[in-house]
Amino acid sequence: MNVVITGANRGLGLAFTQYYLQQGAHVYACYRSDPGGLSTLTSPMLQAVQWDVREAVSEESLSRLPATIDIVINNAGIYGPSKMAGQSLENITPKAMLEVFDINCVGAIRVVQAIKDRVIKAAGIIANVSSKMGSSADNSSGGCYAYRAAKAALVIVSKSMAVDLAADGVRVITLHPGWVRTDMTRQTGEIDTSESVKGMCKVIEQIDDYEPGAFVGWDLELIPY
Ligand SMILES: NC(=O)c1ccc[n+]([C@@H]2O[C@H](COP(=O)([O-])OP(=O)(O)OC[C@H]3O[C@@H](n4cnc5c(N)ncnc54)[C@H](OP(=O)(O)O)[C@@H]3O)[C@@H](O)[C@H]2O)c1
Repeated sequence: MNVVITGANRGLGLAFTQYYLQQGAHVYACYRSDPGGLSTLTSPMLQAVQWDVREAVSEESLSRLPATIDIVINNAGIYGPSKMAGQSLENITPKAMLEVFDINCVGAIRVVQAIKDRVIKAAGIIANVSSKMGSSADNSSGGCYAYRAAKAALVIVSKSMAVDLAADGVRVITLHPGWVRTDMTRQTGEIDTSESVKGMCKVIEQIDDYEPGAFVGWDLELIPY
């Protein structure tokens, strides 16, 4: 099994990498600029690949990815400016909105455009890591304009991918990791990365239990959006 993961050098991406290595998969762990935590892993099944999702993948990196891809996890993401200092109605800027959108939503499109033929060859799975913060139904506290909007857009993009790629045998799902102790949450989450990833990978394994493009939490529960 060949698994491609973006933003794999730390946090949830690194935990996804460790999970799939433990499952015996070949893992193509993509990092933006610094392999970081990937350098501490010594498995022969691991290939680290440089890929900043703000840009088209380089020819060299593309050549390191396998000809058939069973699972793609679009995990790379940023929060953007801090909640109070930069994402309130008063202080959110167009620059911040567009930067967060570019990475959190357009990034997944860039990745899928570049490698979808290889996913089709394997009749594989694309899992897009969004956030409950992108659910309108769940939004009772407002604010967080850039992050909420970009993650909501990713849910919609993921649904379109699910519809468009169904005829090719590719299944697409959107995931919510829970509130997880990573750098993004300044380690303030409720669960650790291994618990979150274990749950999300169970959703991926049971993908046929869900509608194409469903938005599902690490706890296997559907998320209304
Ligand atoms: N933690 C949570 O509670 C939580 C909740 C809901 C959703 N999520 C989502 O889960 C995903 C992983 O989050 P995390 O908590 O693990 O965050 P994290 O610890 O901040 O890690 C983010 C990862 O994304 C990578 N990344 C950022 N910009 C990138 C780019 N342009 N190209 C490639 N990689 C890039 C980072 O690479 P660098 O190290 O190079 O910056 C890092 O590997 C994100 O999409 C996040 O929005 C997290």
